Amino acid sequence: MSLPTVEITRRVEFSAAHRLCSPQLSEAENRRLYGPCYEHHGHNYALEVTVRGPVPTETGMVMDLNRLGMLLDEEVVSVVDHKHLNHDVPFLEGLIPTAEVVAVAFWERLQPRIEEFEGCRLDRIRLFESRENFVDYHGPTDRASRG
Ligand code: NI
Repeated sequence: MSLPTVEITRRVEFSAAHRLCSPQLSEAENRRLYGPCYEHHGHNYALEVTVRGPVPTETGMVMDLNRLGMLLDEEVVSVVDHKHLNHDVPFLEGLIPTAEVVAVAFWERLQPRIEEFEGCRLDRIRLFESRENFVDYHGPTDRASRG
């Protein structure tokens, strides 16, 4: 009999500064496009990371959620908390740090670490930039084609 597959989620929070500015646009165009976000400002972010995997009979766990929390602290929170995302974070270097772009960068950083755990794969990155605004990323292939 096949094992049930379950999605588990860990949430972490961090605070960071950024500004939105495209090097391909003029200052006037950047101001028009990004409005107040063209200026330096900060957010209290929340990151929810969902891992999908089988529930082995032996342990009853897809993955230890505390292990996942430690991994998120190590790979993300310790690198971005109280930092300026445009300048201080090597893996965001040269990117426009919108929530979309940051979510994709977090995926790329976390995905190989999650796959170290037997049968587990990264299912979703959900990044809240505020209480109202959040983005979801499900990885480079869309879910339908992945089956
Ligand atoms: Ni912002």
